[in-house]
Amino acid sequence: MPSSPTSRTASAAQFVPEGKGWAALRSAAAECRGCDLYKDATQTVFGEGPIRASRLMMVGEQPGDREDVEGRVFVGPAGRLLDKALDAAGIARDELYLTNAVKHFKFTQRGKRRIHEQPRRSEVLACLPWLREELRVVKPRLVVVLGAVAAKALLGSSFKLTEHRGQVLEADGLRIGVTVHPSAVVRAENFTEAFEAFVADLKALKKQL
Ligand code: URA
Ligand code: SF4
Repeated sequence: MPSSPTSRTASAAQFVPEGKGWAALRSAAAECRGCDLYKDATQTVFGEGPIRASRLMMVGEQPGDREDVEGRVFVGPAGRLLDKALDAAGIARDELYLTNAVKHFKFTQRGKRRIHEQPRRSEVLACLPWLREELRVVKPRLVVVLGAVAAKALLGSSFKLTEHRGQVLEADGLRIGVTVHPSAVVRAENFTEAFEAFVADLKALKKQL
């Protein structure tokens, strides 16, 4: 019996074309059924940015409500916060490649609202082949993980974000810079402090480019 996508073997791997460029990858990802998340989401939201010219890649968690509707990364509230922080840190958004660890929006429906739900570890692992391909074609000098989900995708499930924010670590031949997720800043009790700390991380990471 074929295993269901929710089993431990859930993976995008069989949908990933071998050795292809970004456009072919993006098209293939649009058809991905590597885990169950494609079922309720509107569309796959693939990463975007200048291929090969991006020295910097940033990896978020998963598309949110707006991203799911528009099919583009970081176009909602978290994206607006990220834009402001990038601006304050002197990083041009159009010079970086932006993507997410998980390519489909996971949510629970409450009335008319769709509430973000954190992806499971199995879903993050299922989606990882797409991120690996993005890393292969973009070849960034530095990959910045935004928040724990992206950090754990590349650094392992026991990784502690708070102990390493603002730092650059090495794993699997990648240089990985660590900071929080912009949504955490949006929700922070002390917004100004959280925003300034986020910008300070980005500035420190920019120096390591
Ligand atoms: N949050 C993310 O992690 N990624 C997006 O694209 C939007 C919100
Ligand atoms: Fe495929 Fe990732 Fe979407 Fe799951 S979340 S269906 S692995 S693209």
